[in-house]
Amino acid sequence: MTVFEFIVGVAYLVAAMLFVIGLHRMRTPSTARSGNLVSAGGMVVTVVVTFIYAVATSHGSVWGWAALAVGLAAGAVFGVVRARTTKMTDVPQLVSLFNAVGGGAAAAVALADFVHSTPGALVSLDSSIPIVLDVLIGGVTLSGSLVAAGKLQGIISGKPLQFPGGRIVNVIVVLIALLAAVLVVVEPRNVTMLVILLVAALAVGVLMVLPIGGADAPVVVSLLNAFTGLAVAFAGFAIDNQAMIIAGALVGAAGTILTLQMAQAMNRSVVSIILGGFGTADSVAPAVDGPGASAANVRQVTADDVGLQLAYAQHVMVVPGYGLAAAQAQHEVADLAKILTDHGIDVKYAIHPVAGRMPGHMNVLLAEANVPYTQMLQLDEANAAFETCDVALVIGANDVTNPAARRPGNAVSGMPILDVDHAKSVVVIKRSMSPGYAGIPNELFSDPKTGMLFADAKKGITDIEVAVKQYVTAGS
Ligand code: TAP
Repeated sequence: MTVFEFIVGVAYLVAAMLFVIGLHRMRTPSTARSGNLVSAGGMVVTVVVTFIYAVATSHGSVWGWAALAVGLAAGAVFGVVRARTTKMTDVPQLVSLFNAVGGGAAAAVALADFVHSTPGALVSLDSSIPIVLDVLIGGVTLSGSLVAAGKLQGIISGKPLQFPGGRIVNVIVVLIALLAAVLVVVEPRNVTMLVILLVAALAVGVLMVLPIGGADAPVVVSLLNAFTGLAVAFAGFAIDNQAMIIAGALVGAAGTILTLQMAQAMNRSVVSIILGGFGTADSVAPAVDGPGASAANVRQVTADDVGLQLAYAQHVMVVPGYGLAAAQAQHEVADLAKILTDHGIDVKYAIHPVAGRMPGHMNVLLAEANVPYTQMLQLDEANAAFETCDVALVIGANDVTNPAARRPGNAVSGMPILDVDHAKSVVVIKRSMSPGYAGIPNELFSDPKTGMLFADAKKGITDIEVAVKQYVTAGS
């Protein structure tokens, strides 16, 4: 090993440490931003060192390196501009595009390595197997992520797209991909077979994601994120690059854990996600087997009633859901909470892991409105606090509060829920009696201690704020 190679190895080790520290800091919202920066620092070290090493040790032409530099600059500019201009609600599709780029790049690295390796030389198994796995997983990730991004963006229908005999076609395409993979390993100079493998992998990606409903796409995006990591790690094995192996393994592991957590919090199995039985919830007709299916069963309240209740409460728990994000009501909620806390009322936020449509959705939205992290309670902490809570203010949340989850036989059975019904009183702000994403009525709405305020989240909270101000001023 030369001194130069030793320095490169140390730099990669430093980068790996930065990735691990960054990931560790992303565990909680209060350190997540710095965690992101630390990880980005690790990536900068990796890219710069790899570039210098490649220029110094290979015999590529000046034009080749110029093309690399231009690609690097174009990628950096695109990344910065997109990250700065993307709205918070559009982040899932941006992540999906990044996955597509990562998976595609990993597959391209393996293809290039395979095609350019010394003609006639025997490709060993420890090289051909990672190449095959890289092309397979990278291809699936590239096309699957593009379809998922299209669904989330509304370019492709968010409905589950299925066609007669779809499952048989899936099985045939998967078999072609597996056969091509085996043949490349057995006869490791067969470029045609590698190209067939790539085309079959691209088809698998499309066929896997098309039957998935738009509302489920975030879980698939998380799964494809894990795939990206695996593809990059295999590309690292193929071209013997430790930084790619470490970074890929970390992304693969983190993505897998996130996918498992999301699946668990939604009470779904990852196997059903992969097999495409997933996504049908979008088309599930609202069930009529529970109470609360119509507005006649519920107690309606006005913004004035809610304002009075809040002004005389001691402990208030805000329960944000997808409707709050859809209405972009985070600033109004934060303003209302500030008025209450200024008046000596304790306000906390109960955050369910899958409230909204992407992991951490609620935390990020509330942080954007400067809600202190200390006020945001995770599921267990919130559930411990509901008993002593005077008013639980549910804003555009539905499935994550449905007590029906505690008994078997319905679409949310087994889903860990926020025990909102344990609070002394409950107010739900939503526009109608429409069910949430799971498509079943929410029994919380017909609970005698629940008051329903039928309004858009933004408008409803603004009206409550006006009422609270009036009572707070009158009472002080
Ligand atoms: P949902 O159960 O989907 O309910 C959201 C409610 O918001 C709806 O009932 C809707 O009722 C209301 N709403 C919509 N727009 C509104 C507006 N402008 N103002 C006021 N209310 C509005 O949401 P949730 O409780 O947050 O649960 C999330 C669901 O998504 C779970 O089933 C979860 O499994 C699923 N999911 C989550 C994720 C992640 S990672 N977060 C990923 C995939 C799927 P109205 O139409 O009557 O207003």
